[in-house]
Amino acid sequence: MTMTTFFVLAGLLASTLTTAQRVVLADIWKPDFELTNGTILGSNATLSKRQFNSVLTQKSDRSLYWINVTIGTPGQKQSMQLDTGSSSVLVPATGSGLCSLLPCDILGSFTSSLSSTFSNTGQSTTVGFVDGGSVTGNWFYDTVRVGGKAIKSQLSVLGTSGSGLSEGVLGIGFPASYPTINHNLAAQGVIASNSYSIWLDSLSSSSGTILFGGLNTARFVAPLKKIPVLGSTNADGSVSYNLPSVALTRVATLQGSTRTVQTPSGYSEPAMLDTGTPVTILQQSLANAVIAALGASYYPSGSTSGNAVIPCAAASNSQSINFHFSGTSGPTINVPISQLVLANLGTVSGVAWCQFGIYGAADSENLATVLGDSFLRSAYAVYDLDHHQIGLAQTLHNGGAANIMEIGASGIPIGDDA
Ligand SMILES: *[C@@H]1O[C@H](CO)[C@@H](O)[C@H](O)[C@H]1NC(C)=O
Ligand SMILES: *[C@@H]1O[C@H](CO)[C@@H](O)[C@H](O)[C@H]1NC(C)=O
Ligand SMILES: *[C@@H]1O[C@H](CO)[C@@H](O)[C@H](O)[C@H]1NC(C)=O
Repeated sequence: MTMTTFFVLAGLLASTLTTAQRVVLADIWKPDFELTNGTILGSNATLSKRQFNSVLTQKSDRSLYWINVTIGTPGQKQSMQLDTGSSSVLVPATGSGLCSLLPCDILGSFTSSLSSTFSNTGQSTTVGFVDGGSVTGNWFYDTVRVGGKAIKSQLSVLGTSGSGLSEGVLGIGFPASYPTINHNLAAQGVIASNSYSIWLDSLSSSSGTILFGGLNTARFVAPLKKIPVLGSTNADGSVSYNLPSVALTRVATLQGSTRTVQTPSGYSEPAMLDTGTPVTILQQSLANAVIAALGASYYPSGSTSGNAVIPCAAASNSQSINFHFSGTSGPTINVPISQLVLANLGTVSGVAWCQFGIYGAADSENLATVLGDSFLRSAYAVYDLDHHQIGLAQTLHNGGAANIMEIGASGIPIGDDA
């Protein structure tokens, strides 16, 4: 939040006027310890996200981003995965079977009897996971605090049993049949629109920020280019927006001054901008081309899909990938190879191997393209859920003091429509 001060000189009088922006800033952070794997879906979700599995060793650089919130009155601390690809708040119940699976002592859990604002709906639900796991719990209403701001009567799931979950989840995607926290922040007047901006900072940084209801021009290289979210057309002709997907229209690899376009002309593929996926998943044929061009390979050697690895030393190569969106006037995000060389998996025959930040998925799969954290760290992404629009610009590290703009009812206030 910034404070604007005007000095109005009228005779000897000076008066001060303060304008407050309706934005909520929260830090998001990467854990420095390992969790079991598992990717959560929104309740009643119709589309699945893919499970991320580790290779070579048990180590996995999940690198998901967490947000600290409180639930209830007085607030009970929770560290939850921040997920643009799902839409539920899911918190484990203290002392439940779920807390024997999750590190509730570290990440938090919720004790409903200690909250004066807790309201049970009496309705149970089951939240499904891609890998076949699921969590059972109850819908409840209570106050959720994010970035110090209260969201009253937020409908959330209190998980009591299940499998496959690694942590609580704060889903901030498009609303399912119930309102998300970002929807409620806007509906309750804390922010001026259902929107937020995500800045993950670089791979070496342990934290980034989410700015609900605003954007920070000191964290990206202008111009910001605005492109439509892809909806799905229903039988009756209406359009539904379920996922933050945009059109990926060209991918090129760069090596020094040599640029190689890796996609066929006319390429256009829905690509989800998902904080809840640690890597970037491309259609198999495209992933194969990019993996080969950057000197990565599949593991185990001889396999033709799945997990990719790269010598860790490649992080200092002068290679990168350009991702182009929504045609020739749309945004281009450059992802340097330094941002794609992830966890060190171990040394084989004297070579240290790292996890590569790009994986392949069968072209036929639903959601074959997911631009996860290994992509998003190179971008500044503004999600305007009210107008089904996403603004993308190249990230800016060390951009100095914040310069925050509110996103009002008319949408993202700056940038070019592509
Ligand atoms: C979030 O909470 C955890 C656990 O209390 C703490 O270690 C961490 O520093 C917090 N992170 C931020 C960004 O507030
Ligand atoms: C991670 O997921 C895979 C595939 O679902 C499973 O086989 C493995 O046991 C999981 N690892 C842990 C530590 O839960
Ligand atoms: C989930 O789906 C069931 C069956 O269609 C429906 O009754 C229920 O209201 C839905 N729950 C939510 C939270 O959307």
